[in-house]
Order: sequence, then C-alpha cells, then structure tokens
Amino acid sequence: MAALRTVTLSGPDDVAGWRDAARTLAAQGVAPGAVIWQTGESGDLFAAAPASIAIAEPSARLRVPRAFIDLAGAALLHRDPERFALLYAALCRLQAHPRLLDDEADPLIARIATMAKAVRRDIHKMRAFLRFRETHDDDGLRYIAWFEPEHHIVRANAGFFVDRFAAMRWSILTPELSLHWDGETVREGPGATRGDAPADDAIEAVWQTYYASIFNPARIKIGAMLKEMPKRYWKNMPETALVPSLIADAQARERRMIDTARTQRGGNAEAAWHALREEAAGCTRCPLYKNATQTVFGEGPTSAAMMLVGEQPGDQEDLAGRAFVGPAGQMLDRALADAGVDRAQAYVTNAVKHFKFERRGKRRIHSKPNAGEIEACRWWYEQERLVVKPQVTVALGATAARSVFGRPMTIGRERGAAHELPDGGTGWVTVHPSYLLRLPDKAKAAEEFERFVEDLRGAAALLRR
Ligand code: URA
Repeated sequence: MAALRTVTLSGPDDVAGWRDAARTLAAQGVAPGAVIWQTGESGDLFAAAPASIAIAEPSARLRVPRAFIDLAGAALLHRDPERFALLYAALCRLQAHPRLLDDEADPLIARIATMAKAVRRDIHKMRAFLRFRETHDDDGLRYIAWFEPEHHIVRANAGFFVDRFAAMRWSILTPELSLHWDGETVREGPGATRGDAPADDAIEAVWQTYYASIFNPARIKIGAMLKEMPKRYWKNMPETALVPSLIADAQARERRMIDTARTQRGGNAEAAWHALREEAAGCTRCPLYKNATQTVFGEGPTSAAMMLVGEQPGDQEDLAGRAFVGPAGQMLDRALADAGVDRAQAYVTNAVKHFKFERRGKRRIHSKPNAGEIEACRWWYEQERLVVKPQVTVALGATAARSVFGRPMTIGRERGAAHELPDGGTGWVTVHPSYLLRLPDKAKAAEEFERFVEDLRGAAALLRR
C-alpha cells in the first residue's frame, strides 16, 4: 500500500498552499486516497501523521484549466472539511479527462460547483449586509462591523472593503478572524464575539427610515426574503428590527396600495418600482455583481414620458448608487439643458446595472459589457419599462441600443430617426455622452456635441406629437 502523505495547510483558507501542494502531488502521480489534508481546524485529528510534503516544481505536463483554478479558488473557501480532498480528486481526474469540468452531471463536479456557488454567495452577502457602526477611539472615528460568514471568506473579502472604504478607519469582527484597517494597512487579529462590536448608533435611524420607506408589503415572501437575507444576518442589521412590525402592518398596507391602484391610474407604479429596485439590489443574474459595489438602478418619475438608457454605471455611479452622476452624466446634463429637456422629468437608467471594470493599480478602468451581460440585465430594463411605460426611449450608444432594440445597431446610420418598439413606444438612438468626452479635437467635439443636442431635441419633439 502506498504511504500516506499529509499536507498541513496554514489555515482554513490557504488556497495558495493547497494549490502548490496539489500541483506537486498530482505531478508525482500521488493518488487522491493517499493524501491527508489538514489545517489548524482539523490538526489534532491527524496530529500523528507524517510531516508535510516538500513542495517541488510542478510538472509542465499538468493540466490545470483556468476554469478549474477559478472554481477551486472559490470552493476551497467552503466550510466542508472534505473540500481539499475533493478538489484534489478533481485535479487528478482532470489529467485523464480534460473536459471533466463540462460534465455538470458528474457528481464530484456538481458538488464542487455547488460549494463554489455557496462561497460566492457568502462573499456577496458579506459585501451587501455588513453594517459599520460609528465609534470613537484615541485616534478619532473608527467604524466597527460584526459579521458571521458561513464560509472562510473573510480574508478573501478584505480587498473589497479596503478599496471601498479606503478613507475610513474600520474593523470587521468575525468569529474566525478580525480585520483592522488604519487607512494604510490591514492588520489581522483573532476572532471576536458579537459583544465586541457596538450595538447601535445614530446611523441606524437612517437605515431604518430607508428600509421602512422601501418596504413593499405586497411582495412579502418570507422564503424569498430568507434566501436573499438569511435570518442569521437579521439580528446584526438595524433595519431588520423593523421587519416584524412591518409584516404585521402588511395586509393593511397592501389593501391601501391596491385601493390606490384602483382609484388612480398608475397609482401602484411607485410601489412596484421600489420593490423592483429592492429586488435588483440582490441581483446575481450575471457575474458582474461580484466586483461592483452595488446595483445602480434607474431613477426618475415612474410617470416619465421619456426614458434615457445608458450603457452601465461608471466608477462614480458605482460608488454613489445613481446613474449618470460622473463626467458622462455632466455631459448629458449639459446637452439635455441645451435641448430643452428637463432631466428631472425623465427616467434615467442603464442597460447594465453593475459597473464592469478592470483594475489597474488603484484605478478601476471601465470595461465594455458583453452580449451575455447585456442580455442578463435586460430583464431589469424590461421590468422598468413595464412600470414606467415611456412614450419615447432614447438609447445612448451601442450597448443601450442593443438592449432597447434587442439587436446590434449602427448608430451612424440609424441615429436621429424614430423606430417603433414592440411595446408600442418609440425608440430613438444617438451616441453615448462619453464618446464626446473622448474626442481629442476641440472643433470636432463641439460639432459632435451639437449633433447630440440635436438628436435629443428630435427625441423630445416626438413627445409633443
Ligand atoms: N455611463 C453610462 O452609460 N451610464 C452611467 O450611468 C454613467 C456613465
């Protein structure tokens, strides 16, 4: 019988340690059954096992497809103690069956994929549901949050919070590990208990007011709520303290909404829009939610006659949670003003509701959404149309046009003309304002700006017919 090999990883989330060891073992042809994987969490179980293997240079012949690296990177953070062994078994099988990952019916691959999905969801939940509370220490303001993840995701999520809250001093306390950011470096500390984090502060009132205002009793589905916001998180979130009383009041509120809807045409649109936005906040229809700060939903009167559709939120929109507030938004505002269109009367949204970007150093560089992402997000755009029912929809640029018209368009050829839409509205296509920002030649930029204004005027003229 082959000797057992023991791999001791440095911790439950030691993905790099697993990768190095797994590559070495697989290159040496060590069978999955001959490896014992252990970490601090299971150390005593195999304390008498032989020492860790020496890490050798991995063989050039080893097959490690990119998709497997991504899958393993997530699944290895699952709390399942068998995760290291399962992933190693998959790596070994991949050597003989390079297309193994395509076989979704394979029980091992299916199990690993489920684990990876659970981890990604946990990562997302930490980003969405973690709440900082304001405290003061000797150096001034410090924000402290308590969070209980299901999997070993805290370290993997640190970069997100550092990027997002770079200017704040904060601590994230979890049962396994704590993170402390002082504006320059992250320090790790031991796990904590909920009692170590402050219970409430003035910010809670703001959360509570916000949550009460977006709460839509017509859509209460406990199952769905639990799915999006598992009960284990509720106790840590100030707004959820309101849920029981809101549920108790729900029937009366629902009746009032229905009455309003009956007596007033479009009276329920506001409530429907709030519910939609709330649902979109937890959207995972495509992978873009993983890196973005938040869903940037459309905004404006639900009775708007004109809908303006952009491509996707930019860096500033991603942080602010509002469409067209950055440089492209300012360009759009100028053009709308020149065209005599009141932005406050229009509904402004984007084809894709999450910011897609590539990181270059500290900068996040806009990256174009692909056809799959546009299609996945089109669902939200169509819901927005159902609520707003705009007379005229202006697609700003090619991505927006693809979503509005459901096909690729040549803007140069099709701009400035009315196109009928399947729901009876009128579509209109023009350039994206960021195209104007990119033009290096001043005279050309001024000329193109005038054409853009002219296009917006043309769209507005349709409203008056
Ligand atoms: N570009 C867009 O298309 N939309 C925004 O919201 C911002 C920039």
